[in-house]
Amino acid sequence: MTNIMRYRMSLDLTGFREKFEVPDTCEIHQLESKDIDALARMEIEAYQDTLDFLLRPELQSFDSCKSFLAGMFAGKIGRGRFLKNLSFKILCNSTLCGAIYTFENGKIVHIADLLIAPYCRRRGLGSALLAYSLHSYKAAGYRQVALAVTATNRTAIQLYKKFGFEIEKSFPVQLKERR
Ligand SMILES: CC(C)(COP(=O)(O)OP(=O)(O)OC[C@H]1O[C@@H](n2cnc3c(N)ncnc32)[C@H](O)[C@@H]1OP(=O)(O)O)[C@@H](O)C(=O)NCCC(=O)NCCS
Repeated sequence: MTNIMRYRMSLDLTGFREKFEVPDTCEIHQLESKDIDALARMEIEAYQDTLDFLLRPELQSFDSCKSFLAGMFAGKIGRGRFLKNLSFKILCNSTLCGAIYTFENGKIVHIADLLIAPYCRRRGLGSALLAYSLHSYKAAGYRQVALAVTATNRTAIQLYKKFGFEIEKSFPVQLKERR
């Protein structure tokens, strides 16, 4: 068995005032269940070269990813309550480029996933989607947002730190060997 280190990161939203801009050709909308097919394709592409791909069994096939997402939309997956009204997608020139899934656990919002399709990266879309979501969480009355990220995922950690997230703790997750 191999252990992978993950960080829990959190941000106090009370002081959050970051300005953000969505690039001209892009729009942010609430996620809808009709997005599931496109989201499943994007999930697999976004994670296939990462350690997270091994940690998340639902990513192993298009069908398992689709059924995972359908379960999430139906409120059957995850430790908290899936917040469809606070889960968003970013489209550029009408093409899906990224998404963020939000859950609520107690009074804290949890980002279960933030992903940008590989061909849309490094254009500020991850930042725009995160900033839009943080503003929306705050406007909905939440004061704290938390997430878990793999410790070797420097790109994502860098992005979260840019918005003021801090590492609260690290914890190991067991990676099951595949036969
Ligand atoms: C993490 C991710 C969402 C970033 O999306 P993105 O649209 O490329 O991000 P942005 O263009 O807005 O960049 C935001 C910041 O992230 C960091 N960043 C982005 N790409 C980076 C790279 N290749 N190397 C180092 N830092 C990087 C930088 O701090 C950057 O800020 P800067 O442009 O001011 O330097 C994207 O890489 C992704 O989907 N990764 C796979 C899924 C994933 O790991 N999600 C996180 C799960 S917890």
